[in-house]
Amino acid sequence: METKELFSERRSITFIDKDRGLSDQTLKEIINLAVMAPSAFNLQPWRIIAVKTEDSKKKLFELSNKQDKVLEAPVTLIIVGNKEGYANNNPVWDEMLRSVGGNEEMVVGAKQAALFLYGSSDERKLKFAESNAGILGMAIMVAAKDYDVDSHPMSGIDFDGIHKEFNLNDGEAAVMTISLGYYDKSRKLYPRRPRRLFNEIASIV
Ligand SMILES: Cc1cc2nc3c(=O)[nH]c(=O)nc-3n(C[C@H](O)[C@H](O)[C@H](O)COP(=O)(O)O)c2cc1C
Repeated sequence: METKELFSERRSITFIDKDRGLSDQTLKEIINLAVMAPSAFNLQPWRIIAVKTEDSKKKLFELSNKQDKVLEAPVTLIIVGNKEGYANNNPVWDEMLRSVGGNEEMVVGAKQAALFLYGSSDERKLKFAESNAGILGMAIMVAAKDYDVDSHPMSGIDFDGIHKEFNLNDGEAAVMTISLGYYDKSRKLYPRRPRRLFNEIASIV
């Protein structure tokens, strides 16, 4: 799908065809495309919990203000941001060392910079997790559309409840959820609401 078409065609599909599944293979391909999303120092401070089983869906439904799409969708992704993704134990640092031909000084410098930029306050840690994982979320919705798979992002959810019930670590934050599936065309989606354009939202300084 052309990029311009993709952006204009993507909708948050409130009504999901509950009888149409999504194969694990397609899900994998969508995620493996979406992870081309940029991230700070390429640290990829995120993980994804794919909620597919009926029990897990019911649990997430309760933690999503009973939004029906969680029950209807073949899968809903919990996008988890890692507030400590700059730390030494992120395997990306080892990959970085290999990618820069073993230049340890460079990697040590990058680690120190990342620790300062993203780990020096709770606010910075949360911004780091949420900004990177949020970009991944958009990439997933765009990648899904390229596979003709529809999506619905949600943040009207119980973040603390999800953290607890889906066993997130202390250093992690649930950032948003995204239902994936196919629009149930028998139910009418409200018309797409207009956007505020450049002249209203942008300034050139
Ligand atoms: C971060 C985020 C959180 C959202 N949370 C919810 C939600 O909890 N429930 C819901 O019905 N829609 C949610 N939406 C969907 C928006 O309402 C929707 O994107 C917006 O109205 C524009 O419609 P469109 O995506 O069809 O263009 C969310 C969207 C985003 C980006």
